[in-house]
Amino acid sequence: MSEPSSRRAVLTGTGIYLPEKIVTNAELAERVDTSDEWITERTGIKQRHFAAPHETASFMGAAAGRAALEAAGLAPEALGAIIVGTSTPDNAFPSTAVHIQAALGANKAFGFDLAAACSGFIYGISVADAMLRAGQVDSVLVIGSEVYSRILNFEDRGTCVLFGDGAGAVVLQARDVAPEDTKSGAGVLSTHLHADGRLADILYVDGATGRRDMSAHLVMNGREVFRHAVSLLAGAVTEALTANGLTAADIDFLVPHQANKRIIDGVGKKLGLAPERVVVTVDKHANTSAASIPLALHEAITDGRIKPGHLVLLEALGGGLTWGSALIRL
Ligand code: ACO
Repeated sequence: MSEPSSRRAVLTGTGIYLPEKIVTNAELAERVDTSDEWITERTGIKQRHFAAPHETASFMGAAAGRAALEAAGLAPEALGAIIVGTSTPDNAFPSTAVHIQAALGANKAFGFDLAAACSGFIYGISVADAMLRAGQVDSVLVIGSEVYSRILNFEDRGTCVLFGDGAGAVVLQARDVAPEDTKSGAGVLSTHLHADGRLADILYVDGATGRRDMSAHLVMNGREVFRHAVSLLAGAVTEALTANGLTAADIDFLVPHQANKRIIDGVGKKLGLAPERVVVTVDKHANTSAASIPLALHEAITDGRIKPGHLVLLEALGGGLTWGSALIRL
C-alpha cells in the first residue's frame, strides 16, 4: 500500500432526490403576501420543491445516496462512511446518517450528521477528504439533505419565499496519485473552512431539542446576510485560488451555494467569471441549504457541462456564519 500522503479523494459519483411537489412563485403568492415579480427580481427564484410528510431528510438523503453509489459503481456494503450535512434532521438522535445507512444496507459504514447550515456540504467534503487522505476509510458518501419547508415561518414573507427542499450526494473514493499527476490528476485539491459565531444572530433557527421552547423557525436579517455573503465568498474563492497557485481563468466551473442569484452573480462578477462558467439552479430549487451544491453539481455533470478533467470550485456561506470552499478536479 502506498503512503497516505499520495492518497487523494476522487469524486466518483453523484445523485439527487427532489420532492415531487413543485410550488411556483405564483402558487406561493396565493398563501403569502408576495408576487412572482418580487421574488424573481430580488432572488432569481421561480419555483421550489416542498416535501410531502414521508419525504424526510433521511428518506431523500437515502435516495440521493443510493443514486450516487450506483453512479460510482460502489456496492453499499463496501462503503466506509456516511456524512450528512443537514439542519433539518429526522430526529435529534439517532443521526440522519444512520437512518440512511440502514436504508442503503451500508452495514460496514459509520456515519454522522454535520451541522454547518448552508455550508454543510462543503464542510462534509472537507472532513471526508481528510478521512480519505489519512487512510481511515476508502470511500465516503457525502450528502446534503434538507426539508426547510418544515422550519419556514409562512408569516414572514422575507424568508419563506427563499427556501426549498431536496437532497444531493456525492461518493468520494481514495485513489493513489503519482507525484507527476499532482496538478492534473482527479481529486479534491483543497478545502478551506471558516466560521464567525459573532454573526450567529443574523441567520438562525430559533428552536431545537436542547431548548424547552420546541418551536423552530428560520429567522434572518437578509440585508446583513447579503452584505457579508458577497465579500466573504469572494474572499473564500480567492483564498482557494491562491493556495493552489491558480487564477479564475483556470477554473472551468464555479458551483456556488444556491441562495440567491444576486449573491451568485456578485461573486462571479468579482472573479471576472463569464456567466456560462457559473452553475445556477436557484431558479428551479430555491435555496436548499446543504443540498444546493450537490444538486447543482449533479445537474452540470449529467447535462455534460462538467466533464472529467475539469477544475470545479465549490463555495458556500450559511448560518453561523459558516463559509468555505472546495476545489475539485473531476
Ligand atoms: N414579497 C414582496 N415584498 C417583500 C417580500 C416578499 N417576499 N419580502 C420583503 N418584501 C418587502 C419588504 O417588506 C420591504 O418593503 P418596504 O420597503 O415597504 O418595507 C421591501 O420588500 C424590501 O425589503 P428588504 O428586506 O429590504 O429587501 P431586500 O432587497 O433586502 O431583499 C432579500 C430581501 C431577497 C432576502 C435579500 O436581503 C437577500 O437576498 N439577502 C440574502 C439572504 C439570503 O439569500 N439568505 C439565504 C440564506 S443565507 C445563505 O444561504 C447564504
